[in-house]
Amino acid sequence: MSIPQSFIQELLARVDVVEVIGRHVQLKKSGANYMGLCPFHGEKSPSFSVSPSKQFFHCFGCGKNGNAIGFLMEHAGMGFVDAVQDLAQGAGLQVPDERASPAERARAAEQRRQQATLSDVLEQAATAWAGQLRKSERAIDYFKGRGVSGQIAKRYGLGYAPEGWRGLASVFPEYDNPLLEQAGLVIVGEEDGKRYDRFRDRVMFPIRNVKGECIAFGGRVLGDDKPKYLNSPETPVFHKGNELYGLYEARTAMRAMGYALVTEGYMDVVALAQRGFANAVATLGTACTAEHVHKLFRFTDTVVFSFDGDTAGRRAARKALEAALPYASDTRSVKFLFLPPEHDPDSFIRVHGQDGFAREVEAAMPLSRFLPEAAREGCDMATAEGRAHMLSNARALWEALPEGALRRQLLAELAQQAQLPVQDLAALWAQPQGRAEAGRGQGGAPAGEPGRRPWRGKGADAARRGPPPRPQPARRIDHAARLLLSHMQFLEELTHEDQGLLREQPAPHGTLFLWLESRLLEHGPQPWAVLREALADQPCQRLAERLMTGSHAQTEGEERELRWELRELLNRMLVEAIKHEQIALVEQAASDPQAMERYRQLQERRLALEAPRPAAS
Ligand code: UTP
Ligand code: MN
Repeated sequence: MSIPQSFIQELLARVDVVEVIGRHVQLKKSGANYMGLCPFHGEKSPSFSVSPSKQFFHCFGCGKNGNAIGFLMEHAGMGFVDAVQDLAQGAGLQVPDERASPAERARAAEQRRQQATLSDVLEQAATAWAGQLRKSERAIDYFKGRGVSGQIAKRYGLGYAPEGWRGLASVFPEYDNPLLEQAGLVIVGEEDGKRYDRFRDRVMFPIRNVKGECIAFGGRVLGDDKPKYLNSPETPVFHKGNELYGLYEARTAMRAMGYALVTEGYMDVVALAQRGFANAVATLGTACTAEHVHKLFRFTDTVVFSFDGDTAGRRAARKALEAALPYASDTRSVKFLFLPPEHDPDSFIRVHGQDGFAREVEAAMPLSRFLPEAAREGCDMATAEGRAHMLSNARALWEALPEGALRRQLLAELAQQAQLPVQDLAALWAQPQGRAEAGRGQGGAPAGEPGRRPWRGKGADAARRGPPPRPQPARRIDHAARLLLSHMQFLEELTHEDQGLLREQPAPHGTLFLWLESRLLEHGPQPWAVLREALADQPCQRLAERLMTGSHAQTEGEERELRWELRELLNRMLVEAIKHEQIALVEQAASDPQAMERYRQLQERRLALEAPRPAAS
C-alpha cells in the first residue's frame, strides 16, 4: 500500500503525539514539554521527553526520537502502514490508497471495522471475567495456590469464567449476536443450533496483540479435567502462529533486561513475571514459528528459548532453532535453555527461585553450540559415515543462517567436527544440492509441508515426491521474487498468509524473501539498485542476480498491473499449497475426525482464491 505523503502530513497534524504516547507511557507536564520513563530503555528517573509544539518525542538517555508514527512502530512493533492505519482510525480519517479498486478499499475498510468490533467484544468479556475472578473464592484460591499475586493477576488481566452454559448472557444481553460466535466466545451446537459459552468454569488468560487489544483467550480448568487448556479458535483477529502470549505485557521488560524469554505455557509466563522475569512470553500450544521470532526481534536483540526438560521440550527446541536461524545475524543472539526433565519454568522457579532461574539463563546454550549438537543427533561420530550424516543434517540448517561471521565460524566448527578441512567442506557445500535442488516444485513447495523443514533429510524428501517436475522457464516463485525485488513496496501489502507462504519456500527463495522482509523492516522499501549492493555476500545473492538479469528480468509496466500480477501469482501458489495439504488431510481423515473439518475450511479458502478477479484497471 502506498500512502501519499500529503496524507501522512495531514494525519500528523491531526493526531497529538502527547495523547498517542500518553496511552503507553505515564507522562507528566514539565514546562513546555511532558516527561516520563523511557519505554525503550530501563531507567529510574525520567529522561523521555515529548514536545507538543514539535509533535516529537526524544529520550535524552538512549537517544530514541521520532513522531507519533515512529513511536508506534518502535513501541508497538507495528509496520509503517499499520501504524498509519492505527492512528488514522483513532483520528477518524480514511487512509487513501489510490491503487486499490473501490471494491477492494471497501473490503479492507469492512475488514478493519469487523476486527475492531471483535476486539471490543473480547475486551468486554475480559473485563467481565476479571470481575468474576474477584468474586470467586475458588478461582482466587487457585491462583494463590500457584503463587500468583493480585498485582500480577491484574497486570495480565487474569479472570474467571464461571460455571453455567450461558454465563456471557449477563455480559451481552444480545446473546444471539453472531459476533459472539465469530469472536470464539460462543459455540453454536451443530445439531440443535443451541448457543452456549465456550469457556465455563475456567481461569482465563486474555491474549493481547502488540497494541494491547484483547484478541483471544486461553482458559484452564481448576482441577484435573480434560482438556486442561482450552484456547480461542482462529478468528479474523487471532492467528496462533503469529501471536505470543504476554508479548504486550513483556515489551518494556524485554527492552530493559536486554532479552526475551520464550516459554511454552501461560502459567510459565505468569509465574516468571511473578518472580522477576517480566520479559517472558509463550507460544500458544504450537511450535515456535519464524513469524514469532520475527516479532520478538523487533523488540530485542537476544532471545532465550526456555524449554521443558522432557522429550517434547527437546523437539520444541529444534523447531525453535529452525525458526530462528534466518534471523541469527551477527548482531543478534539466540540461546537455548534446557531445564531438568521434571521441570517447566513455572515449577523450576518456584523451587529454585529467581536466582536459580537467573543462573540457568546465564548458562543457556548459544545457537552456535546447539546447531552442531542437533545435527549430530543419531549420528555415530566415530565413523566416517556418521560424520558425513551429521554434515548432511547440518547443511540446510547452516544454509538458513544469514551471511556473516557466525555463519563462517560455524562452517569451520562443523568441518572440524567432521574431521574435514574447512576448504573441502566449503567446496562441497558450494555445489548445488543435487536431487533436492531439482525437486523444488514450479508452484513452490506448499506451506506446512514437512519435507521442507530443513530438518528432515532432503534426499529422502525428493525420493518420496517422485521424479522432479520439469523446470519451467519462468517459474511462479521466480517471478514473484522478481516483482518483489523490483517493487519492494509490494511486500508491505502482503497478508500474513502470503508472507508465510513465501518465507516457507525452500532456500534460496525462502532465504531471499526473509532477507527482503528484514530489509524492509530496517530500511523501508528500496530500489533494486540499492538492494543489489546490500545483497553482496548474502546467501541469496546469486538467485537475486539471476532473476534480475537476462531475458525474463523485465518487470516493466504500470504498478497497478504488476501488483495485480503478483496477487495472481500468490493466489495460485496458495491454491497449490492448499491442494497439497488437502491430499494429506484425506489420508489423515480415516483416523482424525478434525482432518475433514480442516479440509472443508481449506476448500472454502481455495474457492475464494480461485474466484476470478477483476482485471487491474
Ligand atoms: P502444558 O501441559 O505444559 O501445561 O502445556 P503447563 O503450561 O505446564 O500448564 P500448567 O502448569 O499445568 O497450568 C503448555 C501449553 O500448551 C497448551 C497451552 O498453551 C499451555 O500453556 N495446551 C496444553 C493446550 O492448548 N491445551 C492443553 O490441553 C494443554
Ligand atoms: Mn506447568
